[in-house]
Amino acid sequence: MPPVTKVSMGNWPRVQDGSSQPKLRDLFGLVREIVWSKVPEERRPGLLILIGLLLVADKVFVIGLPFVYGALIDSLGVGIELALPLGLVLAYGLFRIADTVLDNVMDMLMDRVSLRAIRRVTTDVYSHILRLPLSYHLDNRKGGLAQSVERGTRALEDLANVTLLGFLPIIIELVIAYILLFARYDVLSAMILAATMVLYLLAVVLFDRVRSRLVGRVNEAEDRVSDLIVEGLSYAETVKTFAAETRQARAVDAAMEDYRGRAMKVSVYFMLRQVTIALILSGSLVILLALTVPKVSTEALTVGGFVALAALILRLFQPLRGLGIVNRRILDSLRHTERMMSLFEVPNTITDQPGAPDLAPGPGTLRFEQVSFDYPSKGQVLSGLDFTAEGGRTTALVGPTGAGKSTIQKLLLRLYDPTEGAVRIDGQDLRAVRLDSARDALGVVPQDCVLFHDTIDANIRYARPDATDAAVREAARMAAFSDFVESLPLKYDTVVGDRGLKLSGGERQRLAIARAYLKNPRIFILDEATSSLDSATEAEIVRNFTTAGEGRTQLIIAHRLSTVMHADQILVLDGGSLVEQGTHEDLLSLGGLYADLWERQTEAKTEAGPDAGPAETSNRGG
Ligand SMILES: Nc1ncnc2c1ncn2[C@@H]1O[C@H](COP(=O)(O)OP(=O)(O)OP(=O)(O)O)[C@@H](O)[C@H]1O
Ligand SMILES: [Mg+2]
Repeated sequence: MPPVTKVSMGNWPRVQDGSSQPKLRDLFGLVREIVWSKVPEERRPGLLILIGLLLVADKVFVIGLPFVYGALIDSLGVGIELALPLGLVLAYGLFRIADTVLDNVMDMLMDRVSLRAIRRVTTDVYSHILRLPLSYHLDNRKGGLAQSVERGTRALEDLANVTLLGFLPIIIELVIAYILLFARYDVLSAMILAATMVLYLLAVVLFDRVRSRLVGRVNEAEDRVSDLIVEGLSYAETVKTFAAETRQARAVDAAMEDYRGRAMKVSVYFMLRQVTIALILSGSLVILLALTVPKVSTEALTVGGFVALAALILRLFQPLRGLGIVNRRILDSLRHTERMMSLFEVPNTITDQPGAPDLAPGPGTLRFEQVSFDYPSKGQVLSGLDFTAEGGRTTALVGPTGAGKSTIQKLLLRLYDPTEGAVRIDGQDLRAVRLDSARDALGVVPQDCVLFHDTIDANIRYARPDATDAAVREAARMAAFSDFVESLPLKYDTVVGDRGLKLSGGERQRLAIARAYLKNPRIFILDEATSSLDSATEAEIVRNFTTAGEGRTQLIIAHRLSTVMHADQILVLDGGSLVEQGTHEDLLSLGGLYADLWERQTEAKTEAGPDAGPAETSNRGG
């Protein structure tokens, strides 16, 4: 199996055995790391002692309450000295206040930890997902993915809470209360209480195990709902184009119905669990009280003692119930983090080898060495591809739709690794150099450029966030984009809308060209970068690039052959293989596929009239 990706930050638990359900041990490890990572080593023991003291103090007050209450009742009577009962009332009040204050202080401390946990986990997981291979992103819808991360983060927060403020205090409380009960009252009551506890825990464990499975199914349904909602919203224009608003809403409704059904099962199941538990606890309470009543009548126990006992039993049930809640929340956390944690198992081979060097500077020569490539869902797309694009020269890549031209661009960006052979820049295998350094050397205008919902300035600057305003404007000028921008009321501060869709196709393309230019790369790769532009604008950009791009390597993919006829070298690709190679003149005299395409484009041009641009190599949109 390929190595699992290293995460950007921190030290995530790696799920080793390939099972998708995360291990509790891993999650606790993570929680511990999050809780402790910001605390210096030498302060940890002190902090632990402080937390322990706070917890024990709180529990002493909580459990002390019934006893103070019992003593207070016993101290009441006609014509008694008032000092004692009044003192006890005061003590009762102080105990209550102390309990509330300690509780809330601990809650606040816990929030500090959980908020840190949420921040850390969200950032870690987000950067991990971004680093997953492109194929993963193409295979997964976004809504459910985001939902699963949100759910997973909250669950980890909850787990941190449960561990620190749920589990430990409950155990402390149970132990203290049980010891007191045992010391003050009889063995039989203590035994019955022990039996109640066992019965209760058994019921909780059995019920919650099934519940956890049901919760997993609810989560799946919830992710599907998010997928549908996010997708529908993202492609609103397509939905409207096909008047599919109702259909889209119905799909969400159907998914919601599925979710509702599954969530209802959890609810019914929860009701059964609660009723069973209540039966166990109330039954036990009834038996215990029935056993104690005779003692009061024989004066073996005072009324106050009876009240204190009843209160203590009820108090004892509280941590017991707490244990049930903790059990449920831990199992839920495991379920809720399931999908998020499984992201760390997604194999990622597109990563840096340990200690990989940066791409060394050079003239920018691109080399494909016997490269074959297949997409898993498609089969072979490139086979035995072998060519060199000389540094500083312009190489054109032409061929029918689906021939594999954009795939070549993606291999150069190392969005995928070749199945066979090697892709090299200046003699260095892309797999052997640091990924970011190789990508930094490339200025790419992809075939479908998508912009961020931000200003024109921010979108151009995305290539180089520290660029000066002058550099951004110069890049826009190079891309024949500046006149348009200057004509806008807000100029470079104009917001381009969702995915840049408030711009025309040609404006988007020119922004993408400006962005690639701003990067000031050694190598330009333009994949149909001017396909949406009129011939005059295209010619202007080509002119600009010829002067400013001097000495840079240019790889230009185009259907419109007039765009590339002046290239130093033209590669003709068909069905994933290189079929012809040479200059425009070479290829025309060869009389093969290129000559054929050229003839058809010039023919179409003559038919359309002398002013029309040349037609394209074949039907687009394959
Ligand atoms: N991620 C992918 N998964 C599976 N198949 C893919 C993927 N991307 C592209 N393909 C397939 O690989 C083939 C080559 O695609 P590519 O985008 O490289 O063609 P192209 O030459 O750029 O075509 P066009 O001129 O239409 O842009 C196509 O048949 C396409 O369906
Ligand atoms: Mg393409």
